[in-house]
Amino acid sequence: MDAFIIHGGRRLRGTARINGSKNAALPILIASLLTDEPCVIQNVPNLRDINTTYRLLEELGKTVTVSGKSVTVGFRRKLKTKAPYEIVKQMRASILVAGPLLARFGNVRVSLPGGCAIGLRPIDIHLKGFEAMGAESHTEQGDVVLATEGLAGRTVRFSFPSVGATENVMMAAAATEGVTSIENAAREPEIEDLADFLNKMGATVTGAGGKRIRIEGAARLSGAKHRVIPDRIETGTYLCAVAAAGGDVTLKEAVYEHLEALIAAMRKAGAKITKVPGGIRIVSSGRPKPVSILTKPHPGFPTDVQAPWMAYMALCRGKAKVRETIFENRFMHAAEMLRMGASIVVNGNTATLRGVPDLSGAEIMASDIRAGAGLVVAGLAAQGTTKIQRVYHIDRGYERIESVFRRLGANILRVKE
Ligand code: EPZ
Repeated sequence: MDAFIIHGGRRLRGTARINGSKNAALPILIASLLTDEPCVIQNVPNLRDINTTYRLLEELGKTVTVSGKSVTVGFRRKLKTKAPYEIVKQMRASILVAGPLLARFGNVRVSLPGGCAIGLRPIDIHLKGFEAMGAESHTEQGDVVLATEGLAGRTVRFSFPSVGATENVMMAAAATEGVTSIENAAREPEIEDLADFLNKMGATVTGAGGKRIRIEGAARLSGAKHRVIPDRIETGTYLCAVAAAGGDVTLKEAVYEHLEALIAAMRKAGAKITKVPGGIRIVSSGRPKPVSILTKPHPGFPTDVQAPWMAYMALCRGKAKVRETIFENRFMHAAEMLRMGASIVVNGNTATLRGVPDLSGAEIMASDIRAGAGLVVAGLAAQGTTKIQRVYHIDRGYERIESVFRRLGANILRVKE
């Protein structure tokens, strides 16, 4: 297993290019199941979760040809309608195959993903969406089995704006004749990117990015070519790293409008962030002022940047709170940051941080993608040497994060254990 060794306390300087978004690429790759024609997806990051998606598509009957950052998904044989546990357990987003396969073939069987390090993560909202469109579901030997005599366009009201459920129902609706309307839909930029792709395939999707999405499906969708949006969570992680470790960095291709809640909070804390042609520039300004945040669905503060933010706020001049409202167990990094000298008290879904002047290097462990990224930020800002184990979690969502930070002047190495 790989580990990172970080000799912290170096300022970060220069330019980094933001990769394509993992969480936009995953549903778009899966949407290729809606057609037998080839789909060309560009700006796809090279990540563990993306590779798992290729294996899933191949298992279902597609061909996947990767050339640099461009991926062609093609036809090999009639698709299977069963996603096996062996793949689903590695990546929960596998549940997104349910929508396209159910709409096209009238039945689908997907292993239930189960909980993960950050929470229980049920799929009831996805299932209610499919049921509203005319499907029936039951659980059998750990799999969710969905069947329908034919989906129909309907109004689907979500109790919570789930990102995955919105994507799943959008994909099902794109291949269902009639009009489906999703009320209380998720508004994340990744939803808009999927809507763009579905429109290129021949569906008519309007309202994505807002609370109500209207999807007019088509009996037959075609192949399409699409460039995935830049990764706002990677961007947010690097912003926190520069603010915490100090420095002056321009993030090329970063989209300012996708991160307004984070940027507003960082500015309040004192960081200087500007929109520059083709990206975002950040200039640090020493220890942050305390700023309390609350994670929320987009356009609120993103839960996926909460851990990197916490590493930054651990250094604040005063007391700041972090409230996590999206996932019930997303403070695993706090215990590791305590080992680095942070002062954090967790009570339910609220962490209270009393800022310290410096973090100190320690041996710590990543527990999920973003907790791991938060620890990298803490290690870059800390005095002394930090060793982060279980880096495979970080590799699920960041393409060679250590190379990016090394180019910006950090002293970070990947070692084999
Ligand atoms: C997506 O997960 C992202 N994953 C997550 O990123 C991200 O943290 C999350 O959205 C929130 O922004 C992908 O896009 C692949 P949700 P998703 O459905 O779709 C509850 C990362 O690190 N819920 O909006 O699973 C759920 O338990 C990952 O890149 C139900 O109760 O998120 C959670 O508490 C981690 N029932 C909340 O809603 C449901 O049927 C938000 O989940 C569905 C969700």
